Amino acid sequence: MSKLRIAVQKSGRLNEDSMKLLKDIGISIDNGKDQLKASAKGFPVEVFYLRNGDIPQYLKDGVVDAAIIGENVLIEKGEGINVVEQLGFSTCRVCIAVPKADNYTSIKDLEGKRIATSYPNTVQQFLDKNGVKANLHIINGSVEIAPNIGLADAICDIVSSGSTLFKNNLKEVDTILKSEAVLAVSPKLNAERQAILEKIQFRIQSVLKGRN
Ligand code: PRP
Ligand code: MG
Repeated sequence: MSKLRIAVQKSGRLNEDSMKLLKDIGISIDNGKDQLKASAKGFPVEVFYLRNGDIPQYLKDGVVDAAIIGENVLIEKGEGINVVEQLGFSTCRVCIAVPKADNYTSIKDLEGKRIATSYPNTVQQFLDKNGVKANLHIINGSVEIAPNIGLADAICDIVSSGSTLFKNNLKEVDTILKSEAVLAVSPKLNAERQAILEKIQFRIQSVLKGRN
């Protein structure tokens, strides 16, 4: 019998709540953390621990069937991937931020400026929509350091508590989008696995109802 392959974030802000949700729906996994793949007990599911940014491609290729992932990552690089459940945790927003002392009135102020980000497609779309041309510097982490070291005039990154912005003397000036964890599904999912997915969705819905 085939198993549904579910990807979760290996480490980072979604990992703990994702594992908790799986546990709450009765999918228990006794993994050593170093294992990148684990089978669930009592349910035809395999869990893959992957890097956040790699998950959209795995879904597109059908290497995994479903994933618990931040909507923000799908918006950035998840074209063609369906979201089937909003999961209500890991809420954050994708924001533009600039040094605290800057006089910022609108996104037009970033015309010709340098923006550091891990979300180039999302920012580019936002700039295009507003008719602004800026130079993007793509970095994969610790984006908030960029203005302080003279690499960029502004940044675009996810903000949750706001403490990383605060510590780096930045202020949030525009919100591009809001995000939370979602259950996303591969466009290549087959019928047999679709049936397992539906059972999981049913359980997720009951658990989320109970949480509210
Ligand atoms: C994320 C994100 C922000 C921060 C936002 O970084 O890139 O920097 O969290 O959270 P906050 O508003 O609660 O401070 P993370 O710590 O995951 O590391 P990374 O940027 O190096 O990936
Ligand atoms: Mg960061």
